[in-house]
Amino acid sequence: MKLLRFISVRLLAAAWLTTSLLAFASAEAPQAPSDKLPEAPGKSVLTKMCTSCHGTDVITDAPRTVPSWIDTVLSMKDFGAEGSDEDWKAVTDYIVVNLAHLEVNKSPAAEMAPVLRVSEKVAEEVVAYREKQGGFKAIDDLKQAPGLDAALIDTLAPRLIF
Ligand code: HEC
Repeated sequence: MKLLRFISVRLLAAAWLTTSLLAFASAEAPQAPSDKLPEAPGKSVLTKMCTSCHGTDVITDAPRTVPSWIDTVLSMKDFGAEGSDEDWKAVTDYIVVNLAHLEVNKSPAAEMAPVLRVSEKVAEEVVAYREKQGGFKAIDDLKQAPGLDAALIDTLAPRLIF
């Protein structure tokens, strides 16, 4: 009787172990990459620094302006995200260049430059042109600004706020 109890406990344990191993194996099955992060320099640093506490969906799914992104990235430091000074710079640059939204009629040159992918000097000329024109009403007005690449501006359209 005692022996039988022992055997059934062993069998139960073995069955439990098998099902947990199966569950583990299916959770670990390779999956196609599913992030919506654009391929660009700095992405691997972001993947390393920013995915241990949450997925990349929190990063790609809610739009944020440049200053709001800078605040958000800094707050991750307070939550415990870690990296070297170069890593923090790479991650912030990646996010500003590839994800941040831009208020084209309000932003200073320092925020315009990385999103529009021009030097700060060109961004200053764009801002001066903006003031002279009384603002950009639509994307076609922005394309007229000196030094900007019209084709690139089209690809940036979903990130531009007028
Ligand atoms: C040590 C854990 C940790 C790491 C690493 C981390 N985060 Fe977070 N993140 C959090 C927590 C906790 C929250 C939820 C905060 C809240 O709900 O207010 C969060 C929320 C966010 C949000 C949503 C914020 C909001 O207001 O809705 C964004 C965006 C984000 N993280 C970006 C990043 C980026 C970019 C990195 C890499 C630089 C990063 N996180 C690394 C812990 C982390």
